[in-house]
Amino acid sequence: MKIITEHLWLRPINDSDKDKLKKWRNSYKEYFFSDDGKEISDEKHNRWFKRYTSLPPGTDQMFIAIKVGTTEEIGTIALYDINIDERMAVLGRVLILQQYQGHNYAQEMVNAIRDLAFNTMRLHRLIVEADLMNTKAQHIYFTSGFKTIGQRFIPATKYLFRIVIILEMLNPDHDLRKPLRIESYDEDSDKHGYESQCDNIK
Ligand SMILES: CC(C)(COP(=O)(O)OP(=O)(O)OC[C@H]1O[C@@H](n2cnc3c(N)ncnc32)[C@H](O)[C@@H]1OP(=O)(O)O)[C@@H](O)C(=O)NCCC(=O)NCCS
Repeated sequence: MKIITEHLWLRPINDSDKDKLKKWRNSYKEYFFSDDGKEISDEKHNRWFKRYTSLPPGTDQMFIAIKVGTTEEIGTIALYDINIDERMAVLGRVLILQQYQGHNYAQEMVNAIRDLAFNTMRLHRLIVEADLMNTKAQHIYFTSGFKTIGQRFIPATKYLFRIVIILEMLNPDHDLRKPLRIESYDEDSDKHGYESQCDNIK
């Protein structure tokens, strides 16, 4: 499955991306809080990747963004913690490599994943988190339609905390009578994927 936007296409990550993802994540580690800004070790990354690939289909989908018409890989985004009962998920792992920043690519990716979650999968609620100081990321999420609903604190040192802003968006067209659409996003899903269900997904 591919998600096509105006300038990008998003493809699901696969085994060949494993080393690159660790490198990217470590290069931008201060922007992500799950690892508390620390370098991710091989062991930890391998554990994460193994878990990612063994999760039930449709519960965590991470994508690599590629510039349309090129082979240039410019960043990542994910929809994870997809909860079928609650019809909610978390949008995150948003990264645009420095040399590609400032071209609205992050906004395109976030809007595309929002549309995948709401229009295609028919989820009801999306959550995203950003560091209080990361006003650039927050600006993108606000533009996509997210609203701040709270904050949480992550210990940074013995005395200092990072403040993480929690943002939420509810599906304006949510209709409980319409069934949820959850499918595996691996290459095989092309055979019975979303082509006929959503215009921007090929
Ligand atoms: C955050 C990030 C994804 C943005 O990527 P990008 O492609 O440069 O962003 P875009 O070009 O799509 O959008 C930038 C928007 O932020 C605005 N912006 C730029 N700097 C800003 C700042 N300091 N504060 C507020 N808004 C800012 C721009 O004006 C633009 O908005 P506009 O289109 O309304 O003018 C990228 O900088 C990145 O990968 N950073 C490191 C990882 C990270 O922070 N991830 C998010 C974790 S929550």
